[in-house]
Amino acid sequence: MTLLPCIIDKTEIFLKRLNGLSESGNSFPLTDLIISLTFDIIGAVTMGIDFDAQVPESSRQGEFIRVYDQLVHTFQGRSNVLPWWCHPKLTFRRYTLGKKVDSLLEQMIRQKHSEEQPQEKRSVLSLSLQGHDRLDDQLLAQTIDQVKTFLFAGHDTTSILLAWAFYFLHRHPKAHKALVSELDTLFGPESAGNFGLLKQKLLGPGGDELLNNMTYTTAVIKETLRLCPPAGTARMAPPGSNLVVRTPEGQELCVDGMILYNCATIIQRDRQVFGDTADEFMPERWLGDKSGIMSSSNDGDSSIEEGRRFPASAWRPFERGPRNCIGQDLATIEARVIIAFVARAYDFTKVGLGELERDEKGSFVAEPTGKYRLKGNEMYNVSRLVSASSR
Ligand code: HEM
Ligand SMILES: *[C@@H]1O[C@H](CO)[C@@H](O)[C@H](O)[C@H]1NC(C)=O
Ligand SMILES: *[C@@H]1O[C@H](CO)[C@@H](O)[C@H](O)[C@H]1NC(C)=O
Repeated sequence: MTLLPCIIDKTEIFLKRLNGLSESGNSFPLTDLIISLTFDIIGAVTMGIDFDAQVPESSRQGEFIRVYDQLVHTFQGRSNVLPWWCHPKLTFRRYTLGKKVDSLLEQMIRQKHSEEQPQEKRSVLSLSLQGHDRLDDQLLAQTIDQVKTFLFAGHDTTSILLAWAFYFLHRHPKAHKALVSELDTLFGPESAGNFGLLKQKLLGPGGDELLNNMTYTTAVIKETLRLCPPAGTARMAPPGSNLVVRTPEGQELCVDGMILYNCATIIQRDRQVFGDTADEFMPERWLGDKSGIMSSSNDGDSSIEEGRRFPASAWRPFERGPRNCIGQDLATIEARVIIAFVARAYDFTKVGLGELERDEKGSFVAEPTGKYRLKGNEMYNVSRLVSASSR
């Protein structure tokens, strides 16, 4: 919650960019704007550094963002699954860019370490340097690794969540209406599109209670993460552990030394758990589920405990257990705040793939299920990394 002012400041820049673009009347890729917003937030949270990713012209860390972007781009496409010698040039480029990213981070870390009184004491970087007078090679290498993990893990995922959430709201008028009505109830109708007023309510006394009371918004976030989990993970038991799994057919397999990819997309659309509507966007299914969205409530075994509508193991976008996502509270607070500012201030209209059909009068056409009908094909998930730059 101490990061709330920073999230709101960064969101203000985002809203200004949206204003400019909506006045222009042109279509634009929303995802790119969201990516630079979430990068700005994660930069401030992780390093206490203002990356200005949303202000390309005056980007203080312009070089870092450019190089980081180029590095992420080398992971695009099929090169991920082929051995390095199939693409030696790309491998070399990736290596060189990786070194460059490390050296730019090193400069920033040395700078932070040398500051007598760091302006903020809560960033991941400040905390990891705390109590270390000397920045030796090992501490430096470790810190670079940690910072890189946070920068990457913290913006790609959150931006994908928000992009899908806005699309689902556009497609599902009932969900959109319910969300708007929740925001009106909690923050007052007069706060719709009024940045200053909403900011004041969120930062004022009771702001955290307001965020916690965003039940429907939270359900939208949970449902988006259920249908389109942005991340994944893998586990491997070391050889000799004798980890045996049993297939549904009863066959037993020893999986020692094998990488097990836990596909949340498949698990979270299980019809045995979510029924016939498993592939549908229905935030309502989470209402009345006491488990909330916070990390502490995501533990528990696979049985349905009291107050829970689905087994805890059936919803795992942040994964579970001791190495689950450390940023899940931040991500979900961030998403709630951004949705609160955006949802009543703008309408989004998807163009291209996933575009909605319009009737003669120009209105969207509802299907019997209540969602709007598509003009062409459904949107689908692809495996891709997103980068930081703002285009
Ligand atoms: C919607 C947003 C996010 C999703 C869906 C997500 C998802 C995940 C997943 C699936 C893992 C793997 C956990 C495992 O293997 O058990 C993970 C790990 C991690 N995430 Fe997130 N994440 C999100 C946001 C964030 C944010 C905002 C941060 C930074 C504050 C962050 C930092 C990390 C870190 C550092 C790890 C590694 C933890 C460890 O290995 O102990 N994530 N995340
Ligand atoms: C939040 O919800 C609780 C329980 O419904 C209610 O008592 C409280 O007044 C609400 N707070 C705000 C600020 O809306
Ligand atoms: C995309 O979704 C399909 C199910 O609709 C799933 O089989 C596939 O694994 C998903 N791809 C990724 C990259 O998650």
